[in-house]
Amino acid sequence: MELKRKLVVAVTGASGSIYGIRLMRALVAHPVEVFFMVSSAGQGVMAHEIGKMDQPLERFLKNSGARFHKQAAVFEIDPEDLFAPIASGSFRHDGMVIAPCSMNTLAAIASGVTGNLIHRAADVCLKERRPLILLPRETPLSLIHLKNMYRLAKAGAILLPPCPGFYNRPQTIEDLVDSVVARVLDHLGLAHDLSKPWKGKGN
Ligand SMILES: Cc1cc2nc3c(=O)[nH]c(=O)nc-3n(C[C@H](O)[C@H](O)[C@H](O)COP(=O)(O)O)c2cc1C
Repeated sequence: MELKRKLVVAVTGASGSIYGIRLMRALVAHPVEVFFMVSSAGQGVMAHEIGKMDQPLERFLKNSGARFHKQAAVFEIDPEDLFAPIASGSFRHDGMVIAPCSMNTLAAIASGVTGNLIHRAADVCLKERRPLILLPRETPLSLIHLKNMYRLAKAGAILLPPCPGFYNRPQTIEDLVDSVVARVLDHLGLAHDLSKPWKGKGN
C-alpha cells in the first residue's frame, strides 16, 4: 500500500504555471494531502497563460483532467496567511515544490526574507531539512540569479529548471511539460507514467 504523503506546492509569477497545475494533477492520483498556494503575480500570469482559476481547487483540477485517488485531498491556502500551519516547522510534512519559481521568490528564499507564506514555507523546509524542489524559470540568467541558485543548492534545495528533454521525441506541449513534471515526481519518489526513462539507444 502506498504511504500517504503531505506536500506543499506553490505557483509563483514566472512563466510556466502549467507546470504547477500539471504537477497537481499528477500528485492527486496518489494518496496525498497537498497544500497549494499561488502568489498574487502567479495568479496574474496563470490567468494570462492558461486561464483564471475561477473554481474551487478540487473542481478546477478535476475539470483540467485530474483523477483523484480516493485518499487524495487538496487545500488552497492564501499565500499572505502567515498564520497557516505550514508557516511552522512543527507542522510535519514531506516537502515542498515551487513550480514555476520566479527570480523574485528565488531571491527571497535565498536571502531568508519571508515576506509571504510561500517564502516562509520554503524557509521552513530548508531549516527542517525537508525536500525543497524549485523550478526556477528565467532566461538568460544574471550573475545574481546564478548566485541565488548556488546559495539555495548549498542550503539543500533541489534546483530543477523546467528544461524539457527531447530524447523521448515529444509531440505536444503536454509531452514537454510532462517530461519536466516526471522529474519532479521522481525526486518525490512517486510513481508515474508521464515520461519514459532513457534506456539507451534503440529503445
Ligand atoms: C507574463 C509574465 C511573465 C513573467 N515571467 C517571468 C519569468 O519567467 N521569470 C521570472 O522570474 N519572473 C517573471 N515575471 C515577473 C514576475 O511575475 C514578478 O517578478 C513578480 O514580482 C513575481 O512575484 P512572486 O515571486 O511573488 O510570484 C513575469 C511576469 C509576467 C507578467
